[in-house]
Formats: sequence, C-alpha cells, structure tokens
Amino acid sequence: MSGRTSRLPGFYKLSIDERLKIVSDFAELTEEEVSTLKKEGNLPLEVADRMIENVVGTMAYPFAVAVNFLINGKDYLVPMVLEEPSVVAAASHAAKLIRESGGIKTTSTGPVMIGQVQVVGLEDPFYAKMLVYEHKQEILNLANEQDPILVKLGGGAKDLDIRVVDSPKGPMLVVHLIVDVRDAMGANAVNTMCEAVAPLIERITGGRVYLRILSNLADKRLVRAWCKVKKDVIGGEEVVDGIVLAWAFAAADPYRAATHNKGIMNGIIAVALATGQDHRAIEAGAHAYAARSGQYTSLSTWEKDENGDLVVTLELPMQVCIVGGAVRTHPVAKIALKILGVKTATELAEVMGAVGLAQNLAALRALATEGIQKGHMRLHARNLAVMAGAKGELIDKVVAIMVKEGKIRFDRAKELVEQLSKQEGSS
Ligand code: MEV
Repeated sequence: MSGRTSRLPGFYKLSIDERLKIVSDFAELTEEEVSTLKKEGNLPLEVADRMIENVVGTMAYPFAVAVNFLINGKDYLVPMVLEEPSVVAAASHAAKLIRESGGIKTTSTGPVMIGQVQVVGLEDPFYAKMLVYEHKQEILNLANEQDPILVKLGGGAKDLDIRVVDSPKGPMLVVHLIVDVRDAMGANAVNTMCEAVAPLIERITGGRVYLRILSNLADKRLVRAWCKVKKDVIGGEEVVDGIVLAWAFAAADPYRAATHNKGIMNGIIAVALATGQDHRAIEAGAHAYAARSGQYTSLSTWEKDENGDLVVTLELPMQVCIVGGAVRTHPVAKIALKILGVKTATELAEVMGAVGLAQNLAALRALATEGIQKGHMRLHARNLAVMAGAKGELIDKVVAIMVKEGKIRFDRAKELVEQLSKQEGSS
C-alpha cells in the first residue's frame, strides 16, 4: 500500500495512544486488536513505557508455580513463566522424584562478573600486559570509585586477568576486570567500570581501547547442582541405563547436546522470566560455557552409582539479580521473588540451577522410556477440549476418547463436545 512507511522520526517521543494509532493504520488493526494490545494486566502501561522504547502495549504470559522442590533442605515454590505446555508439570514431577531421594544440593562460586577492555595497536602486547599488571591497584581503585555503594556492600572490582588474544586482525590485549557485583546482575556496574578505566589503560599501554563491555561467558559466576535418584523411584535399573545413554549421546554429539541443554534451559529461563532477569544473558552464558572445550557438549553429566542409582551433576554460569532492572520495575517479578523467598542473587542462581537439573531429569526420563509425545499430546488434547467448549468432567471424557482414538484434533474435540453434551442433556 503506498504511503506506508516504517521511517517514523520522533516515534519514540509520542504517547502510547499516538504510537498505537500509527501502528494500527500501518497494519490495519481492528479496534478489538488495538484494545487487546492496550489491555492493562499486571504490568501498567506507564511502567512498560518506562521499561523500553516505542511501547504500544503489553503482552501477558502464563505465570505458574512448580511444586515439590527441596533444595539444600529448604522447600521452594518455583514461579515459572513460559508458553510451552508440559514444562511446569515435568519440573514438578521430577522434583517429586528427587525429593524422595533427599532433594537437590547446590553450591556456587559467588556473584563475580567479568568486564572486558579490548586494547589494539600494540607492537609488544605481552610486555603491555605486564605493564597493566604493574598498575593493577591503580586500575582497581579507579574502577571502584565508580560504585562506592557496591564497594560498601563488600563488592567491587577485585582483580585483573589479562590475555593476549590472537585475532584475525592480529594480536589484541584483552584486560578482564573481575568484579563482585553482589545482588545485581552486574551489567551496569561492570560496563561503567570498564569505560572508566579505559583511558588509564590506554595511557599505560600506549594502545587504543575499543570495546569496554561485560562478558556473558560468566565463568566466574558458576552454579553447581547435583542429586541422586534411587533406581526404584525412577522405574528400575533399565531406566537408569537409558538415561545415562541419553546423556552419553548429548555428551558426544552437538546436535543432541543443543536439545539436551534446551531442556535444561526450559526450566531456567521460565524462572528467569518470572523473576524479571536478563534471560538472553543467561542463555548466552550457558551455551558459551557448554562449548568451552572447543566442542559444544552437555551442561550436565549423568552416571549410575555402585548401587545402580542415578546420579546427576549440572554446572553452568548464572548471571541473575534480586535488585535493579526489571526486578525493580516489574510488579510481578517482585512477587515472584517473594514466592521463591530467596535472600540473595546467589541463592536465586542456585535455585535456578536446581530447576534446570530437575527439568533435565524429566526430559531424559520421558525420552528414555515412553517418549515425550504421549504427555504432550494429552495436554494438547486438554487444550483442544477446552477450546471446543468442554467444561468440568466433560474435559476428561473428551481427552480420554481422543487419546484412545489417537485423533487429537480440534474438529474431533468439537464433535465430541457436541455429542457428549447432547447425551448428558438427554439422560
Ligand atoms: C522440549 O522443550 C525439551 C526436550 O526436547 C529436551 C530434551 O530433548 O532433552 C524434551
């Protein structure tokens, strides 16, 4: 259509209604579609408008709670936000199996992030590296001056780690600023520090600084989770063997490892969304960590112990916060943290690691036994039955027939709802 343009100078300065009018004209939205976008749920439009740019509405996702989690001897209700059916049920079920064998244990390295300062144009990068080390305290002091509150809380820039990186454009000096960010995710604190120390590093090395930004390969902010599941609880030694074989497949094959790790991230990202985390950072860190040896592999390991029981360990970076960002602005994120009852970012990280582990167990158990489609299809059938108008007991009846027939389709659900409602009406 002529006149339709996405070139909209000053769009960001308009009110939500004005922006929405433009979008609605552009895409020929109906009145109903416009009012759906504007419908206020638990994120007020004015808050959304301050969170990001060019806001024209909000979008709600299901907020659920996974049950049965026993982590380090403490009970947790785990808030999860996501669109995929079965994930919450699977996490809750796996957590139940694990708690029968004592629950999940976790530990972590603490909230330490890495900031990178890229120095180029050096004739003698290895010598420059030593010069930077020589001025370490001066650099750390300057970094810490940027965030006295963090320092007061016991955090701040603690150390340097310097490497010469062989790049396609020649060697570069990469200075890592090691920062304890306490209960923050750390991006703001670390980026500010990196920008502040860059001119000093230029003066020390005589080189030119380009990038000054945190690394999402947060391998100094690791969470570790592990548990045992008794063979009788999981369905016998054959199931244990099947799960270990499933893991071995992921350990050896990146195509499988990507899906295996996706299953772990199903749980972790759902908690990240509920609690207002930067979930892209968590994903980036996890997958980079999975590839740290040069070959992308499984984030977890699964073994059989001397009694034939299943033992699992998981280790990955977890850059999360309980202060700042969306945690502060999004009213639901605050409630999610209250439901979880975590007191520090480290505790949140450990809970998320534990959820990833339970999620992984649920997926591997299903895959190594009946496959995941059976459970998925039952849930799908339920959704179809509800969409077709079934209520109460009728839902279960429609689901049972569709599953038995192997015909899980909307048209069949509708037919059954009509048929069974008529039968009930006449009896
Ligand atoms: C689906 O969202 C996740 C799984 O594919 C994970 C896995 O294969 O391990 C079931």
